[in-house]
Amino acid sequence: MSAGSTNAPMASAGSTNAPMASAGGTNAPMASAAASPLLRAVGLTKTFRVAGRLFGGDRSVHAVTDVNLEFGAGRTIGIVGESGCGKSTLGRLLLRLLLPTAGRVEFDGTDLATLSPRDLRAARRHMQIVFQDPYASLNPRMKIGRIVGEGLEVHGVASGKAAREQVLELMARVGLTADAYDRYPHEFSGGQRQRVGIARALALSPRFIVADEPVSALDVSIGAQILNLLLELQDERGLAYAFISHDLRVVEHVSHQVAVMYLGRIVELAPAREIYTGARHPYTQALLSAVPTVDGKDRRQRVVLGGDVPSPLDPPSGCAFHPRCPIAVARCRVEAPQLVSDGGHRTACHLVGDGNPSAGGDVPPPVRHDPAPA
Ligand SMILES: Nc1ncnc2c1ncn2[C@@H]1O[C@H](COP(=O)(O)OP(=O)(O)OP(=O)(O)O)[C@@H](O)[C@H]1O
Ligand code: SF4
Ligand SMILES: [Mg+2]
Repeated sequence: MSAGSTNAPMASAGSTNAPMASAGGTNAPMASAAASPLLRAVGLTKTFRVAGRLFGGDRSVHAVTDVNLEFGAGRTIGIVGESGCGKSTLGRLLLRLLLPTAGRVEFDGTDLATLSPRDLRAARRHMQIVFQDPYASLNPRMKIGRIVGEGLEVHGVASGKAAREQVLELMARVGLTADAYDRYPHEFSGGQRQRVGIARALALSPRFIVADEPVSALDVSIGAQILNLLLELQDERGLAYAFISHDLRVVEHVSHQVAVMYLGRIVELAPAREIYTGARHPYTQALLSAVPTVDGKDRRQRVVLGGDVPSPLDPPSGCAFHPRCPIAVARCRVEAPQLVSDGGHRTACHLVGDGNPSAGGDVPPPVRHDPAPA
């Protein structure tokens, strides 16, 4: 991953993924002067109904709330946040593997909800997923060749010898040797299995891929190889990625934009470089302060977040982050902040933005902290 790579994080106003200034200052979808995005999420919301305890009645899990994102060809949005914040649910909503409670997904300008089952199936060819645990996602009774080539046959793209040739080509591209064709998933290491998962996702020449924690289960060095492969494939094929991870270090290397989620909502969305050099939301700052740097030279104060992530069954009033926020003020308990854009950097925090001393810059230093690690 070189700095000179076309995948290096950048803040380009001309990009289809570049965040756009919002006149209204809300998180409503924004008009784009640039080309239409490949995939657009508009107000995506998912609420799960779960059975309540005895006499409790059904309850609602607010897994994803009002998410607006635009994915451009050849670009990556990193989606980060703690466990349970709704990352995977958002990923599945983007692919319409889950139906939204509200909002929509547009692919190439078409609302997926308006497609007939047949057209939706055709559209799905262009939208694939790579999972965290490749072993769990690969049928243990199927040989690698069949796993990778299944989609080709199901969608009538190729069969027989032609399918075999395409599969072997894909396998070679992701770094698998031809002898893997007739072997089973259990015969491979985690990294190789992830290569199988990537080859399978690529088989139908997708344009958009949700990579849900694709390297979380792998050793660092193996994970780095997989990340490099994903970056090369993006360069070659102009793929758009939604790259999901709980690990800000991983996301930094692959993302053009980063969306930070907290309890189902995006609380900060900005070009990756801005997130890592000038995070504005206290939650993002806390996540970053917990990330050790490779050279150990970072002088960031370590912010300790008190308590656990609140339950999405019963999210806190006002700003959902307020019970853990080191700089919360009274207003935070009663009023939910909107995702406000300032120069293309969007933040949902009352203490960041117009009319506040910290407008457009850093929020005041957190009051709860412990010393940075040596
Ligand atoms: N099918 C479901 N029914 C009920 N609740 C669900 C369902 N799927 C997810 N949830 C809940 O929605 C919330 C978000 O879950 P999700 O799996 O999207 O989080 P995540 O950010 O991907 O977490 P992790 O990092 O652990 O993978 C969680 O509270 C989860 O328990
Ligand atoms: S709105 Fe208030 S509680 Fe929420 S992040 Fe900002 S300061 Fe903290
Ligand atoms: Mg998940």
